[in-house]
Amino acid sequence: MNHVDYAEINRLNWDERAPAHAASRHYHVANFAQDPNYLSHVVQFDVARLGDIAGLRGVHLQCHIGTDTISLARLGARMTGLDFSPASLTEARRIAALAGVEVDFIQAEVYDAVSALGAGRFDLVYTGIGALCWLPDIRRWAQTVADLLRPGGRLFIREAHPMLWAADEQRIDGELVVDGPYFETPEPYVDEDDGTYVETDTVFVTTTTHSWNHGLGEIVGAVLEVGMELTAFEEHRSTPYEALPGLMVCDEQGEWRLRERPDRLPLTYTLQARKRTR
Ligand SMILES: C[S@@+](CC[C@H](N)C(=O)[O-])C[C@H]1O[C@@H](n2cnc3c(N)ncnc32)[C@H](O)[C@@H]1O
Repeated sequence: MNHVDYAEINRLNWDERAPAHAASRHYHVANFAQDPNYLSHVVQFDVARLGDIAGLRGVHLQCHIGTDTISLARLGARMTGLDFSPASLTEARRIAALAGVEVDFIQAEVYDAVSALGAGRFDLVYTGIGALCWLPDIRRWAQTVADLLRPGGRLFIREAHPMLWAADEQRIDGELVVDGPYFETPEPYVDEDDGTYVETDTVFVTTTTHSWNHGLGEIVGAVLEVGMELTAFEEHRSTPYEALPGLMVCDEQGEWRLRERPDRLPLTYTLQARKRTR
């Protein structure tokens, strides 16, 4: 499978999901128009860890329909959102206009982000919540992040935990079972799914996706190898989407937890790193 094949297959799937996601309750698009201070659930969770980002030049890799990108702009960062799905960016631009927020949305593959946006231009790279699984090579992602940042610039990622992604999400007997690969594999996991992670009546026709897992050691190792230093790392017992249907409950903040014995499994992690100045 070459680079172009997997990207094209996944892009078709994301182009179809984008309008359904923007119309779903999960993304709360109307709130952005109604309340000038509204932030996405994802960014509300991140706020305390992000600290003051006012005035930072930020790029959100794999920004999808832009709800988190717009939220970061509302916190005062000058944001660029990057995604390879034109339909996602159409929704993102529409939602930014509704929200009255200025964001640049650029269509490009993650691995082409430096040629699309320029090297060393950003103070903050933000990404996550369903981003890394679409990328075959975690080292190449880490190099892209490092190249986008100015020396001293920050990476902020909250992402689904690789142990969560190794768990079988289709069990109907309530068991929590490790079934898929935890480590990065050369070949993708090929999935067929006519649904998505939000409630929608849309039945998708482009149902094939190619994805990869990356172990925590592979992710941290890649970040260190490209000349960044870890500044914070935490594992969480919740995710902002219903990752294991039937096994989870949702709290008032829109975070999903295991209903029973939530200490069994980390569901997401937040990793922060800084590009060395020399
Ligand atoms: C689950 S969303 C993550 C965004 C965000 N957490 C959210 O929920 O809005 C995944 C996004 O990654 C994008 N994507 C997947 N593979 C990509 C690639 N190789 N280059 C750029 N964008 C990609 C998809 O188009 C999609 O918008």
